[in-house]
Amino acid sequence: MKTKLKTKVPPRWRKEVEGVLITEEQIARRVKTLAREVERDFRGHETVVISLLNGTVLFLADLIRHLNLPLRLDFIGVSSYGAGTESGALVFTKELRLDVRGRDVLLVDDILDTGKTLSRVLPKVRALKPRRLKTCVLLDKPARRVEKVSADYVGFAIPDLFVVGYGLDFAERYRHLPFVGVLHPHVYQEVLNPADKIKSGNERHQPILRAR
Ligand code: IMP
Ligand code: MG
Repeated sequence: MKTKLKTKVPPRWRKEVEGVLITEEQIARRVKTLAREVERDFRGHETVVISLLNGTVLFLADLIRHLNLPLRLDFIGVSSYGAGTESGALVFTKELRLDVRGRDVLLVDDILDTGKTLSRVLPKVRALKPRRLKTCVLLDKPARRVEKVSADYVGFAIPDLFVVGYGLDFAERYRHLPFVGVLHPHVYQEVLNPADKIKSGNERHQPILRAR
């Protein structure tokens, strides 16, 4: 299925970005309503927000500014081995420092894709015996799921496309785009090594995911 990307790409990004999937304005609006949903459920208790590095930085910063709750913030660093490895070979680069036993915890991630990350992280946090554990992701790509996991709060469900921006990267680049968009194929060609080179269309997100 080919997704139409109608919104104009800001001139500054046109060379690299093929299309905008979610605009800055759409994100801003949705993050506010997401915060309302979280607030409603977490009211009355101090919340511990645990954010997964690095993709959540922009989303997290906006989300927590709208959260009218007493909260503490901590991070878990998780990443997969560099380009060319399967997504799923996870390494923890930073462990949680706060004690979450008996606490209300909101786990925040950038995107729920295959579900491998959340299905590794959730049992780790659950083992620390929080009173409540909910998950919040900016994006959800249900078509790619291989693990049986879902998020309690989802910003946007998106089609099976590799996206960048608003925290999401390709080879650590493009995290700072204020929107969520899709790159031109030439960008991938330039960054990936020749063995990973990809042709076009639907195939393109496959090698790229390994480069996460
Ligand atoms: P999962 O473990 O397959 O669910 O993937 C979660 C992680 O994969 C995310 O936190 C991202 O780092 C990365 N990822 C998955 N899809 C995309 C994408 O479309 N763009 C950028 N990163 C992605
Ligand atoms: Mg990430």
